[in-house]
Amino acid sequence: MNTHRLCILGTGNLGTSLAKGLIASGQFSTDRLLLTDKRESRITQLKKMGFQCSDQNLQAVKESKYVVLSVKPQQFLTLAADISSVITENHVVLSTITGISFHEIENALGKIPAFRIMPNTALEICESMTCIAANRFSNLQLENEVIRLFDNMGKTLVIPEDMMGAATVVGACGIAFALRFMRAMSQGGIEIGFNSEMSQLITAQTIKGAASLIIETNNHPEGEIDKVTTPQGITISGLNEMEHQGLSSAVIRGLLTSFNKLENLMARSAK
Ligand SMILES: NC(=O)c1ccc[n+]([C@@H]2O[C@H](COP(=O)([O-])OP(=O)(O)OC[C@H]3O[C@@H](n4cnc5c(N)ncnc54)[C@H](OP(=O)(O)O)[C@@H]3O)[C@@H](O)[C@H]2O)c1
Repeated sequence: MNTHRLCILGTGNLGTSLAKGLIASGQFSTDRLLLTDKRESRITQLKKMGFQCSDQNLQAVKESKYVVLSVKPQQFLTLAADISSVITENHVVLSTITGISFHEIENALGKIPAFRIMPNTALEICESMTCIAANRFSNLQLENEVIRLFDNMGKTLVIPEDMMGAATVVGACGIAFALRFMRAMSQGGIEIGFNSEMSQLITAQTIKGAASLIIETNNHPEGEIDKVTTPQGITISGLNEMEHQGLSSAVIRGLLTSFNKLENLMARSAK
C-alpha cells in the first residue's frame, strides 16, 4: 500500500468535484490520485482531464491509503463486495454515500477506520461545506488528517453519525436550493432590464457577498437584513411580498420534504 495515495471509487459528479478539489487545493498531484468508474465514457473523459482512471477497483485500493467510496447508495454492496478482500485496517475509508451507515460499512468491509463525509460539489473550487463523522475504529490522528484534507477544500464540521441525514439535506442538497434561488433572482433581474449575463453576475456576486458577510461576522441574517430595510423603503416591500408568497415557508418545507424522504428511504433499505 502506498501511504501517500488516495483513490476515489466511483468518479461521477461528486467524485470528479473531489478529484478536482484535491488538485486545486495543492494537496495531491495526479500521480497520487487513482480514480475508478465503471462507465467507459467517464473513464475516457477523466483521462482527458489528466487523471489516472480505470475500472480496476481492486488495484486502486491496493495502491492507496485513503479509499473514497462515491457510488450511489444502491451500488454500495456491489462495490464493497468487489474490494472487501483487499481492504485492511491500515486503509482509511471515506464514504460519501448518502444513507449508508457505519454499521453497513462494517458489515460489508470489516472493522476498519471509516469516516462518513458529506461535502457538496463546491469541493472543486475548494468552497465546500463538509460534515464529517468518524466510526469507532478511527482515532484522533486519523480524524485530524481527514479534517485537514477537507478544511483545505472549504469548511468542515465534525458531527455525530445520527446527524448525517440532516447534513445531507442542508449541506449537499442545500447547494441546489441556493442555486434555484439564484436562478429566480437572476430571472427577475432580466425582467427589469439586465441581459442574462449581467443579471447572473450581479446575482452571484450579491449572494456570495451575503454569504461572506454571515461567515465573516457571524451575525444573524436578520440583523444584516435590518441594515438594508429602510422604513417604508423598497427592500422591505419586496421582502414582505416574497414572504406573503411563502418564501421562508417554502424553503423550510422543502428541506423537511427532502429530510423525510431520506428517512423513509433509509427505513426501507434497513428492512
Ligand atoms: N452529487 C452530490 O452533490 C453529492 C453530495 C454529497 C453526497 N453525495 C453522494 O455521493 C455519492 C455519489 O454521488 P454522485 O452524484 O457523484 O453519483 P454519480 O454521479 O452517479 O457517480 C457515481 C459513479 O460511480 C459509478 N459506479 C457505480 N458502481 C461502481 C463500481 N462498482 N465501481 C466503480 N464505479 C462505479 C457510476 O457509474 P454508473 O453511472 O454507470 O452507475 C457513476 O459514474 C452518492 O451516494 C450521493 O448520494 C453526492
